[in-house]
Amino acid sequence: MGLHIGSVAPDFTQESTEGPIKFHDWIGDKWAILFSHPKDFTPVCTTELGTVAKLKPEFDKRNIKAIGVSVDDVESHKKWVKDIEETQNVKLNFPILGDSDKKVAKLYDMIHPEWNDTLTVRSVFVIDNNKKIRLTLTYPASTGRNFQEILRAIDSLQLTDKYSVATGADWKKGEDCIIVPSLQDPEVLKQKFPKGYKVVKPYLRITPYPGD
Ligand code: BEZ
Repeated sequence: MGLHIGSVAPDFTQESTEGPIKFHDWIGDKWAILFSHPKDFTPVCTTELGTVAKLKPEFDKRNIKAIGVSVDDVESHKKWVKDIEETQNVKLNFPILGDSDKKVAKLYDMIHPEWNDTLTVRSVFVIDNNKKIRLTLTYPASTGRNFQEILRAIDSLQLTDKYSVATGADWKKGEDCIIVPSLQDPEVLKQKFPKGYKVVKPYLRITPYPGD
């Protein structure tokens, strides 16, 4: 069966550039983003890993740990990291899993044979502190990912876990939110949304950003 939003993220033990990692223990009580890249020493992947390293303060603010993976081995990753640091002007500050046995790639269905039999596509799994998959993305090798969009989506996930809201198209942290349609009791609405709300349509009710 495939991995879905809400599935428990498969656990594994695998070598990494920071030593052996038992995935669920490594996540601990934080969130995680597991992202694959097709191959070491390739240009798009080089920019992506540099970008994720530069965004560490943003991931830290959201209590989320990043981890990369490709089907190359750790020795290859370690050599490539030197190039990433040199060309992207950043120190790599998260582990990359070696996966030459494709253990992780297979568990997470990261190899799409209609494209390539052996290399991983650009998969993203956002995993919460209960080890549940909360978001998945799949990009082809030729298209680098937008990590600002991934941070934006994490902001939405973490906000909507806390308040009875959803976030609309292109929403950004701090902007108005949508009250979930299942909430109808006027007393509950008053209590949950002290900043008030506007009824545009009975199913479309807008409330100011409920967070701090
Ligand atoms: C890249 O990262 O640039 C790349 C990797 C595999 C295929 C195509 C591009």
